[in-house]
Amino acid sequence: MKPQSRPRDPRFSSGPCTKRPNWTLDNLKNASLGRSHRSGEGKARLKEVIDRSRAILGIPDDWRIGIVPASDTGAFEMAMWSMLGARGIDTFAWESFGAGWVTDIEKQLKLNDLRKFDAGYGEVPDFSQADPVRDIIFTWNGTTSGARVPDADWIRDDREGLTFCDATSAVFAMDLPWKKLDVVTWSWQKVMGGEAAHGMLVLSPRAVERLQSYTPPWPLPKIFRMTSGGKLIEGTFRGETINTPSMLCVEDAIDGLKWAEEIGGLKALIARSEGNLKAIADWVARTDWVDFLAGDPKSRSCTSVCLKVVAPWFEALSGDEKAAAAKKIVKLLDDEGAAFDVEGYRDAPPGLRVWAGSTVEQSDLEALFPWLDWAVATVAAEHGA
Ligand SMILES: Cc1ncc(COP(=O)(O)O)c(C=O)c1O
Repeated sequence: MKPQSRPRDPRFSSGPCTKRPNWTLDNLKNASLGRSHRSGEGKARLKEVIDRSRAILGIPDDWRIGIVPASDTGAFEMAMWSMLGARGIDTFAWESFGAGWVTDIEKQLKLNDLRKFDAGYGEVPDFSQADPVRDIIFTWNGTTSGARVPDADWIRDDREGLTFCDATSAVFAMDLPWKKLDVVTWSWQKVMGGEAAHGMLVLSPRAVERLQSYTPPWPLPKIFRMTSGGKLIEGTFRGETINTPSMLCVEDAIDGLKWAEEIGGLKALIARSEGNLKAIADWVARTDWVDFLAGDPKSRSCTSVCLKVVAPWFEALSGDEKAAAAKKIVKLLDDEGAAFDVEGYRDAPPGLRVWAGSTVEQSDLEALFPWLDWAVATVAAEHGA
């Protein structure tokens, strides 16, 4: 039977993620539009994003925070291109985005003093292998597999190498141990439901030291450059962006941060996302056809929740048939306006991915579950089950 009511907000995409509750375009009416981002007002707005982010996330005062071009990808690439090559590198990858960074290190930067620690979709690698003398590259939350770093005990406080953490689908929904992270990146379009295009880059004092003491042997485009004459360009970390940002996106980022403060800051954001994961876990526990792709609850993501269909009719299908069946389930949900964008990532095993980050209302997830049951039952019936 088709469920009676739909989620009030059917947006469950893993990026761009749904806006905060009660968001309207009206909230952006005071944006600093049609004038220079280098005006006093423009720079103040950009700095406001930096200052509010620092306060909410508890980022130490001596860690730099910059707004940089090209979303999370831009932020992470500029860090890798500016700082890697000074030491050997340990990479940890367990899904598509993490694997993408490793490919760039090998194929583009052509660095070969690499030790690669990988795991398949749903699992995480053996982090205890990390060598504190080497640089470490990893993603805090594997957006395409729904598996996250369970803790940071494996990162030594007295490390000599730098840790580079792509935290784009983690930050604001998970507690990050800033003192153990030398380079952290994210974009506004994930947990806070902001707009894409701009990246956030956090640098520890040791990362700054690397920037000022090491010059990579390859050329760096202007868009990646963080130093001038061997000195950090401090303005980048005060809101004087490398190139022109969208002040409309900036206003939206501020709106999201103010909302976070109103509801109680980081604790409240994490509680919303963890509460959503709990609601999904309770539904999974009482539902035969579904399971988490991430087997170990300790590394199960509270934002990008990846689910697999474990019904016998589905498991009997070939890989291509599974992908086709998953697509049908997703299309039914989309056609009904019950859930948008819940297909698993293209490189992940066929299944569903439901964003459960802090902007998602638990009541919308509760309303979604019967629709997931209905869509899977509909496609199961087509397969004679
Ligand atoms: C872990 C991870 N890294 C990087 C990206 C790329 O982010 P962006 O498109 O904001 O550059 C994503 C996007 O989903 C992601 O999930």
